Amino acid sequence: MYSLEVKPKNQKEMSAPKLIDVTPFEPLIIKAHYDGFDFKSLEHACNRLIAGVEHKTHLEKGNANSSATNVKIQPHLMPEFREFYNWLNPIASHILYNEYGLFDKIEYKISNSWVNFHGEGGETVIHHHGDTALTVAAYLQLPEDGGFIQFKDPMEYQKGFHIRKYDDEFWMWKTVPATTGDVILFPGWIRHRTQPNKNKNVKRWVLTTNYMHLYKELK
Ligand SMILES: [Fe+2]
Repeated sequence: MYSLEVKPKNQKEMSAPKLIDVTPFEPLIIKAHYDGFDFKSLEHACNRLIAGVEHKTHLEKGNANSSATNVKIQPHLMPEFREFYNWLNPIASHILYNEYGLFDKIEYKISNSWVNFHGEGGETVIHHHGDTALTVAAYLQLPEDGGFIQFKDPMEYQKGFHIRKYDDEFWMWKTVPATTGDVILFPGWIRHRTQPNKNKNVKRWVLTTNYMHLYKELK
């Protein structure tokens, strides 16, 4: 019924009406790509991390496990993942200080890291990472139909005032497609989960890292 097309005077026609998202707030969920994962060379380290798990967290359902509770060995302290972290650290700093606009006299460092796997039907249920400033999920191995991460709209309650075009109780869940080597960076407070892995033969493996303010003195 209404068109937002604007035609400047003296210009007979525009090639196409253009609507531009000019939301001025900082970005929320950011994707990068790391070319250096060779899962065959990482598999041994990943299995070693999982083997050290004493308690499977309640977040991992079905054919799944995570080394999040294994604090004795963590990926960011292992030589197998050193090159990845050399690549990641400056990107994380850029996002925290330049994209998210955090105060640059406060230092953010890796507080913990872990890997998880999902075999057929395995999934991670809804959770958040508390006051983690930046969480990084890196796909070490993502098979076909391996499932993606999903985020819950943080404006759920505000947007709930208005009826959506479709009546789907999951309308506030949005999926971020990915491929092996993709790295998804987001603030730890946003609720997220994964789709189940539907691949019968190949596991999905993800490396997750938290960057936190470690409450040391201001520099
Ligand atoms: Fe998570």
